[in-house]
Amino acid sequence: GAPVEVDISTLKPGEKLTVEWRGKPVWIVRRTPEQLEALSKTTPQVADPDSKRTAYPTPEYARNAHRSIKPEVFVAVGICSHLGCSPTDKFQTGAQPSLPDDWAGGFLCPCHGSTFDMAGRVFKNKPAPDNLEVPPHMYLSDSKLLIG
Ligand code: FES
Repeated sequence: GAPVEVDISTLKPGEKLTVEWRGKPVWIVRRTPEQLEALSKTTPQVADPDSKRTAYPTPEYARNAHRSIKPEVFVAVGICSHLGCSPTDKFQTGAQPSLPDDWAGGFLCPCHGSTFDMAGRVFKNKPAPDNLEVPPHMYLSDSKLLIG
């Protein structure tokens, strides 16, 4: 499949946009400062904080706590690493059905309950074997991303 160019200039903090790349949904989330800050809280709770697992290898430039090139812009394939369902946004913090009371924001897979933080890192003891996939991508300019 051809690479996909995406203009993210109108994407506001806390918003997510979805584009299609190679038949898969790719999410682009502009994280708020609060969402980025919460990653230090979830780091001890996730199974692979440094993205060392290789089911869906994380590109070198995203092998950091925020799993992205620019801290605020998260790019991920919106497919659960377990059996391929599409996780739901759970950006709101705090107690919600199927989520812990101290939920810091992230994604919930409706199929078997895997949870992921705002960097797509899977929480410990969940069926998903790996973090959400970060697709190959680069910036063409401040507001133009190339996926693929
Ligand atoms: Fe997501 Fe099973 S497909 S938890």
